[in-house]
Amino acid sequence: MGLTIDAVLGSEDFSKENLIFLLQSQGEERTKLFAKAAETKRKYVGNTVYFRGLIEYSNLCTKNCYYCGIRKDNKNIDRYTLTEKEVLDAVAYAYNEKYASLVIQSGEINSSKFTAEITNLLTKISKATHNSMGITLSLGEQDRETLRQWKDAGGRRYLLRIETSDESLYTKIHPQDTTHSFQKRINTIKLLRETGYQVGTGVMIGLPFQTLEHLANDLLFFRDMDVDMVGMGPYIEHKDTPLYVHKDTLLPQKERFDLTLKMIAILRIMMKDINIVSTTAMQAIDPIGREKALKVGANIIMPNLTPQKYRGSYLLYQDKPCIDEEAEQCKTCLEIRIRFAGDKIGYGEWGDAKHFFRKTSVNN
Ligand code: 5AD
Ligand code: SF4
Ligand code: FES
Repeated sequence: MGLTIDAVLGSEDFSKENLIFLLQSQGEERTKLFAKAAETKRKYVGNTVYFRGLIEYSNLCTKNCYYCGIRKDNKNIDRYTLTEKEVLDAVAYAYNEKYASLVIQSGEINSSKFTAEITNLLTKISKATHNSMGITLSLGEQDRETLRQWKDAGGRRYLLRIETSDESLYTKIHPQDTTHSFQKRINTIKLLRETGYQVGTGVMIGLPFQTLEHLANDLLFFRDMDVDMVGMGPYIEHKDTPLYVHKDTLLPQKERFDLTLKMIAILRIMMKDINIVSTTAMQAIDPIGREKALKVGANIIMPNLTPQKYRGSYLLYQDKPCIDEEAEQCKTCLEIRIRFAGDKIGYGEWGDAKHFFRKTSVNN
């Protein structure tokens, strides 16, 4: 007496068993999952896609995550930090083009100098744009005081991926030392909420040693943490990283991509009014990967605003798209892609997750 797709989708009971069933769906079952996710998106968040202009501020990083191309011990890249002018030029572009939101991302640096640099940038961005930009930070684990200072200077949302919610898998993909502590990461995500940020997290899909049960638990983790935003992408091997030795044990890239689509679709059905990112890593595997993610529930895209000359130095994974493009080319490209996916762009709107303002889950 097996589970049936109609019963599982109809019940909206997200037990681990049901989640694994959905992650395994193929053929007509998979089509029904995607159709339900598309319907849920239209009903709860509509067909507007919001832009978050991405500024990759610096590729300096003090950490050594085993999967990441800009990890501290990778000597094969040129390290850079944008100048204040380069940041403000990118901000001016986003402001003029009515992107309405920005993401400032970098490797993880914990120092009073770095804290002050970001505070200064936030203050100048707020001034230059008359406090009109919804600013998201993605700057790794930071202490309470730093997070508070950045919040006061204009930070509104914060992204910190848990990478995997399974502690034992987490320890396999990170060095085992105090700077890569699973517990500290969880605590920092909680701290973000306490500090008043809209909280985003996420995982990589198709990691070595990862099982469908891990992924089902990741979905339950997002729900239990009651997050406002999720960004998930396929894990993509990078030859200058320690995890590369496991490359022959990975699922084929197409399957990692397909599992990511299913994760997005299920999450949309579970957490109806959060923001879900259609990540760039989707397009590293499939030329229309980001459009496919929009069709099954994602509603956020992060067009790259990093000056072109630095883009090749911010390669977290191989085959990252948009390395040779400038902001304007990505904008035109995305306008066509989003229209193709049947959505429209919410120019001039912040597009905060409705979830943040409601603060109780629709389900459970
Ligand atoms: N493949 C896919 N995603 C990666 N990230 C880092 N390295 C990789 C990789 N090899 C993701 C992590 C991190 C985000 C900024 O980039 O999830 O949180
Ligand atoms: Fe640094 Fe983030 Fe890469 Fe880890 S994933 S090495 S913290 S940039
Ligand atoms: Fe950058 Fe298409 S989004 S080139």
